[in-house]
Amino acid sequence: MKYGHFDDNAKEYVITTPATPLPWINYLGSNDFFSLISNTCGGYSFYKDAKLLRITRYRYNNIPADSNGKYYYINDNGVIWNPGTMPSGTPVDSYECRHGLGYSRFTSSKNQLQAELLAFVPTDEACEINCLKLKNNSSEEKHISLFSYVEFCLWNAMDDMTNFQRNLSIGEVEIEGSTVYHKTEYRERRKHYSFFSVNTKVQGIDTSRDSFLGQGQGNAFPEAVRNRKARNSVASGWYPIAAHQIELTLQPGEEKEFVFVLGYGENPADDKWETPGVIKKTDAVRILERFNTTEKAMEAFAKLKEYWNTLLERFTVSSGNEHINRMANIWNQYQCMVTFNMSRSASYYESGTGRGMGFRDSCQDLLGFVHLIPERARERILDIAATQFPDGSAYHQYQPLTKQGNMDVGSGFNDDPLWLIAAVAAYLKETGDYSILDEPVRFDCKPGTEVPLLEHLNRSFQFTVTHLGPHGLPLIGRADWNDCLNLNCFSSEPGESFQTTGPSEGPVAESVFIAGMFVKYGREYEEICKRTGHEKEAEEAEKAVKKVYDAVLDAGWDGEWFVRAYDAYSNKVGSSECEEGKIFIEPQGFCVMAGIGLEEGNAEKALDSVQKHLETKYGIMILQPAYTRYHLELGEVSSYPPGYKENAGIFCHNNPWISIAETVLGRGDRAFDVYRKICPSYIEDISEVHRTEPYVYSQMIAGADAPRFGEAKNSWLTGTAAWTFVNLSQALLGIQPGYDGLIVDPCLHGKFGDFSVKRRFRDAEYHIEIHKPDGVQKGVLWIEVDGEKIAGNQIPLIPGKKEYHVTVQMG
Ligand code: GLC
Ligand code: GLC
Repeated sequence: MKYGHFDDNAKEYVITTPATPLPWINYLGSNDFFSLISNTCGGYSFYKDAKLLRITRYRYNNIPADSNGKYYYINDNGVIWNPGTMPSGTPVDSYECRHGLGYSRFTSSKNQLQAELLAFVPTDEACEINCLKLKNNSSEEKHISLFSYVEFCLWNAMDDMTNFQRNLSIGEVEIEGSTVYHKTEYRERRKHYSFFSVNTKVQGIDTSRDSFLGQGQGNAFPEAVRNRKARNSVASGWYPIAAHQIELTLQPGEEKEFVFVLGYGENPADDKWETPGVIKKTDAVRILERFNTTEKAMEAFAKLKEYWNTLLERFTVSSGNEHINRMANIWNQYQCMVTFNMSRSASYYESGTGRGMGFRDSCQDLLGFVHLIPERARERILDIAATQFPDGSAYHQYQPLTKQGNMDVGSGFNDDPLWLIAAVAAYLKETGDYSILDEPVRFDCKPGTEVPLLEHLNRSFQFTVTHLGPHGLPLIGRADWNDCLNLNCFSSEPGESFQTTGPSEGPVAESVFIAGMFVKYGREYEEICKRTGHEKEAEEAEKAVKKVYDAVLDAGWDGEWFVRAYDAYSNKVGSSECEEGKIFIEPQGFCVMAGIGLEEGNAEKALDSVQKHLETKYGIMILQPAYTRYHLELGEVSSYPPGYKENAGIFCHNNPWISIAETVLGRGDRAFDVYRKICPSYIEDISEVHRTEPYVYSQMIAGADAPRFGEAKNSWLTGTAAWTFVNLSQALLGIQPGYDGLIVDPCLHGKFGDFSVKRRFRDAEYHIEIHKPDGVQKGVLWIEVDGEKIAGNQIPLIPGKKEYHVTVQMG
């Protein structure tokens, strides 16, 4: 069953009912100002950091679940309704929500009054614009009372929902004309404020929540809206809000449009007052002036559309398969941008108050983003590297506003350092910009500790070399990619964090997954060393990689698949010897991607075992058999009920690893099948089972052991986005950025026909036509560049050349 449909021409998903199984959301903003917006207008906004600079308040665990947002209430002859239907829940006569790239548009009507709401964040100002148009489609004159409503968050979102003894006394606002300024804590250490305004004279304003809603009332039918009368309240402590009242008369056929702006402003600390007690409003005045007419707002909207069209043109495919075209050209890349911006911080499932930017998460997100805006990827790499410690280990997370490592979680996740190499290698291949390696970067953000980025890569590499366990495999530390495989934790107290309990280092527990990573990214490191003239270092690296490679084939091989790990007693995890959790997906995917056991035959066996033991109709499970009881020696992985999350869920993130691994073996049919099973567009038809948004990936789909098999959770913020884009663009469609040029090496289903790709790469435009005879899965017979045959499948870079016309014959 579907709850809407794709509109590929408009690059939108069109939701046709407010009653989706879960809130289906979108993200507005691409730089500093961000909003989340659901298909019923729920959500919240923040500036740069969802925890530290939260602009509007959202209540997780609310009932109804999604009932705070930026709302507009219409009182039409006593009938109160909202364009997105919430929070009144009043049924409307027609409804449509279009989630587009960086904007959402709602069109609904009730009693022949039509409302159209367009919400977006412009590309170059810290604000959200809401254009609201009301049209009278009846034959009678209508007198409408329109109210806006936002509830301010007192900046620190965590504090905002816990520290009431203070917070209920500190709320402050300023009102000037049609603008409400939220200035809690501005009197002391803050120098920023937010504001909410509309480009018309208003009949009333409320800034105290209780005055507007009515004492003790929810937000469904505010008292001021019922009475058609704002109280002109001025918040003092308690709960500051901003609500406008606009009275309007609409003749039959007449329409009126308003531009509401929610913005963020900042002042120099020593110049923040206009007059004592009155905020200096330079930013607000500029922003409001820029968008004070519908024409100006629409100009900003046109710029936003242009921005996205230009970005997405950097990679487009045109094939006979609409799912592939749609996901590659629109939604997969869009989700890559969102995960790059958010890491795992702010979604409807990540509260934005806990995890900031993850070290490993952000490095991986970058893999799917670097082709879009390489300069931002560069900046991100330098930020991440600065949270590394001198011994190569790294803070697991950092806060986007301060860019400081997060002490609460600390370090000890032994895969983290290697992801930095992955990110830098991807950046170098995409851009050829080796100057990044010379950038001075601090350790632990401490001034005076700067060393060139290349030295950080060396520390990353050396961290593994110096942390090998009894079998010559990398020590796992607190956990590796699988945050829940906590082999040194031994937690028996309820509520203890699995990620921070116990020693951060154990001398015994080892990870075969990290070994696979080390072989894959250790070789990249070796390559980078060679290319920068560090021959000796490259040789050393090669030797170290070889050792770990051998250790994997020796102690890391179980007979039919790769072992997952050795626990703190040196017992195998993910082996046929185990009572539960006999096979895990991660080492199968990563070791094969790293090329381990290709010649020896292990690779093929491992992937066959994945298909045999982990495959379901909804995707590939992370492990089998599920853990049915808590294993003290394994930690959180065994804490989840069977079939959920890391305990035998279909953890989407590592499905593309298997698909890529299959392309390494040249098995295109199988690689494509693995891709297809969790692809949002392919499974749109079962939205009532899957339940999350059909235009993006979710972190997890319940596995075969779960009562709700096939149901997805934690949509949007998942490494699945980046890895799938890597898989789709590089492994399946086969357009691979390489150090010395673009490489073409598709691996697809035998039935997948001819296709073409347009790709921007190193300041040039590549037009690539690929002929793929029926039945062929992999293999390039010849390539012509501008009519000339080339040797091999790497298109040579020609300095200054702006366009390449490439023809590829597979066979
Ligand atoms: C979450 C984390 C990610 C981790 C994964 C597996 O998605 O954000 O860092 O690798 O879970 O545990
Ligand atoms: C939990 C989740 C895991 C996530 C981790 C982050 O363990 O199961 O997916 O990576 O928390 O702290």
